[in-house]
Amino acid sequence: MKAIILAGGAGSRLYPLTQISSKQLQAVFDKPMIYYPLTVLVASGVRDICLISTPDDLPRYQRLLGDGGQWGISIEYREQARPAGIAQAFLIAADFVGSSSVTLMLGDNIFSGGDDYPRAISSFEGGATVFAYRVKDPQRYGVVEFDRNLKAVSIEEKPRQPKSNYAVPGVYIYDNDVLEIAKAIKPSARGELEITDVNLEYLRRGTLRVQRLSRGFAWLDAGTSTALHEASTYIEAIERRQGIKIGCPEEAALNRGFLSIEQFEALVAKMPTCEYSDYLRNVADEWHRLMDEQQ
Ligand code: G1P
Repeated sequence: MKAIILAGGAGSRLYPLTQISSKQLQAVFDKPMIYYPLTVLVASGVRDICLISTPDDLPRYQRLLGDGGQWGISIEYREQARPAGIAQAFLIAADFVGSSSVTLMLGDNIFSGGDDYPRAISSFEGGATVFAYRVKDPQRYGVVEFDRNLKAVSIEEKPRQPKSNYAVPGVYIYDNDVLEIAKAIKPSARGELEITDVNLEYLRRGTLRVQRLSRGFAWLDAGTSTALHEASTYIEAIERRQGIKIGCPEEAALNRGFLSIEQFEALVAKMPTCEYSDYLRNVADEWHRLMDEQQ
């Protein structure tokens, strides 16, 4: 399984913040927004990642994330010269995907709680798997309609009259057919290659699986300054209450075995003294304690 993170877009609803940095690099409490989707991928065991962004922003991501080697993964970069919809990611990164299956994650989707994604990604067998999450304002999203047996019967992009309250979050798992499907779809009325059209093609083929996310799961929006602030507050509250961090790629890489404890500690030793590195030092201490107990 490979993965694409799409981190494009002008982020105009976050102006003037997006004057200094792109939307997915904004802080969500104590780390850049992009860390959250990235950590979901690492926790899911994905090691080959391609990040797509605008020519202006790409160097900023490269500076932040490098080649991924520090986390035991590989990150490649591709430019989206002109934004033409989410499904364009598969045209841009076709050579990266090759003959593999691929998870697409939107860089501005923040998640917390549950292991629905890691489970679905690591046990994926074919077709397409997308998710459904209950929201109050479904007209802003792709909306799934279910029949009585909870089988998905339709998906509509930003419908004026939504047929349900179930929105599709920005995590999509596809087999390799997605490359051919994305090539064949036509731009929508708003001029975009819609990811909903890709999902509709899988639905038509009878190979789309729509998994409902559980109630306790949090999918946070960060599209406006208010939503961004609320997301930060939410993450802060959970982190303080539990004493664990959400969206920490170093910790996920250690847990997944992408980094040995020695590599992890060497990485932490290079960080400045701060709350983030203090936390990681505690993670290492706990790791040693657990190992001692097991002996
Ligand atoms: C996009 C998709 C939509 C999906 C949403 C999730 O919307 O088109 O189907 O529900 O991402 O974040 P957009 O970001 O273009 O508003």
